[in-house]
Amino acid sequence: MRLFVAIELSADQKEAIRVAVEPWTHVRAKWTSADGLHLTLAFLGETPEGRLIELGQRLDEVGARSPPARLALSGAGAFGGARPRVLWLGVSGELAKASALASDVAAAVGLPPTPWTGHVTFARAKARGGDEALEKVTRGLESFRGVPFVASSVTLFESRGGRYVARHRSMLSGGERPGAPEAGGG
Ligand code: 2AM
Repeated sequence: MRLFVAIELSADQKEAIRVAVEPWTHVRAKWTSADGLHLTLAFLGETPEGRLIELGQRLDEVGARSPPARLALSGAGAFGGARPRVLWLGVSGELAKASALASDVAAAVGLPPTPWTGHVTFARAKARGGDEALEKVTRGLESFRGVPFVASSVTLFESRGGRYVARHRSMLSGGERPGAPEAGGG
């Protein structure tokens, strides 16, 4: 089974994305449906089903030591340079907490450390090599500023036939409260 770990978005957050993106959906692209919107923390890829329980336990342990993080979707960008392939909204707020959470999750599920770039994918190019026509979409959404929200759980998702199915949810119940000053930052 194909697995990944993500922060789920509330219906309000998804609605705000829908409203922001709507003026652009006449542009040819694969537009992510509300069910497909999330903030990926770690991508495990193909994983034996027998690991599901162990992975859930490991994520519970991460959740027990990780504080919730106050975040907001903010700005837009693309992977793929001049020929965007993946269009996303960026993330602002308590990024040190979110980034520490992403590395803790990655380590817990056995992935090598990799830098985390928080983003919510809202569209993909239809062409495999990207599509320069999508550049105007990210430019148009650069000024997007979402309402802040508190990420208070992480979800282990199975990607199944184009659908994402939640297989396990772990609450973030560690130490610091959201909004507390971040370590090493202001
Ligand atoms: P995304 O956050 O950029 O959309 C399910 O496919 C999720 O896992 C997607 O949200 C996607 O990231 C992420 N994903 C898929 N394939 C990936 C890969 N090869 N490397 C990293 N993340 C991947």
